[in-house]
Amino acid sequence: MNDGPSALADPAEDTPLTRPFSGASPYEEYVHASVLNTLQQPLTEAADEMGFLVTTQVMELWFTLIVHEWRTAREAFVKDDLPAALDALVRSRRALSALNDSWQPIAALTPRQFEGFRTAFGRASGFQSAMYRHIEFLLGEKSQSLVNAHRGDPAVHEALRDAHREPSLYDEVLCCLHRQGLPVPAHVRERDVSLSYTSDPAVVELWRGVYAGSPYEAPAQLAEALTDIAELVARWRFDHLMVVRRAMGAKPGSGGTAGVAYLEQRARRVVFPELWEARGAL
Ligand code: HEM
Repeated sequence: MNDGPSALADPAEDTPLTRPFSGASPYEEYVHASVLNTLQQPLTEAADEMGFLVTTQVMELWFTLIVHEWRTAREAFVKDDLPAALDALVRSRRALSALNDSWQPIAALTPRQFEGFRTAFGRASGFQSAMYRHIEFLLGEKSQSLVNAHRGDPAVHEALRDAHREPSLYDEVLCCLHRQGLPVPAHVRERDVSLSYTSDPAVVELWRGVYAGSPYEAPAQLAEALTDIAELVARWRFDHLMVVRRAMGAKPGSGGTAGVAYLEQRARRVVFPELWEARGAL
């Protein structure tokens, strides 16, 4: 039997655990929890608003992490460091799964519950999330007008403008594969990266060849990591659509779109289309 202090007992005073910190705790200094915990400011007394606000803020944090991992991966592809790039993609896959699990607190909001606070936030909408546009730009889904919409906020606008002009994660994947000896046509490698990426038959053929080969080779592992990412992004879009349909039916969105009809169109977009097209050719 262990006679040491029980983890269930109140910790004794003046031990290394409980001795007063000289200022804020090291945890506070690192995490800034007290700053983070002052950012939830509901505008109404509605019971469901806090859950809506926290869910939205949590998703913004996951967006930030995903963007961080994809930028890390993109940098590694530029350096032809495939193991580091794959590591970052795998971390982003976990972050995307956590993002998708974050719908839970608001997944079943009814129109009546949503109406309890909807008018209070006025024209605010996730449509205006700059971090979500960083995600889309890294996926190769570019839009000049969505950059312009943020002109009134110089720091946000500048960061988005830069992201719009930079190659996407997928652009760098293809350039890296080309340097590894897989043929990516020059018109794809030298394309205007500020335009949305679509699909090219030669790249579909490249992925078909990768899948026809060994599943243990780096390009095959990469193809599957990218496919997981594409699927998880599609799932986020679909889950969002479902939450919106449950909470407000076909009413127009607070940001100014038609609402569900707009989101249905957006959810139909295919992330990394060539990876899906290649499957039909195998
Ligand atoms: C009850 C919950 C929600 C409803 C009813 C809702 C509704 C909508 C609607 C109607 C749009 C279309 C734009 C507009 O006209 O406003 C939209 C866009 C968007 N929402 Fe939500 N939303 C909800 C929760 C969330 C949450 C928690 C997030 C996380 C940040 C989010 C992020 C986004 C994003 C990023 C867009 C832009 C999508 C695009 O342009 O493709 N939404 N939302």
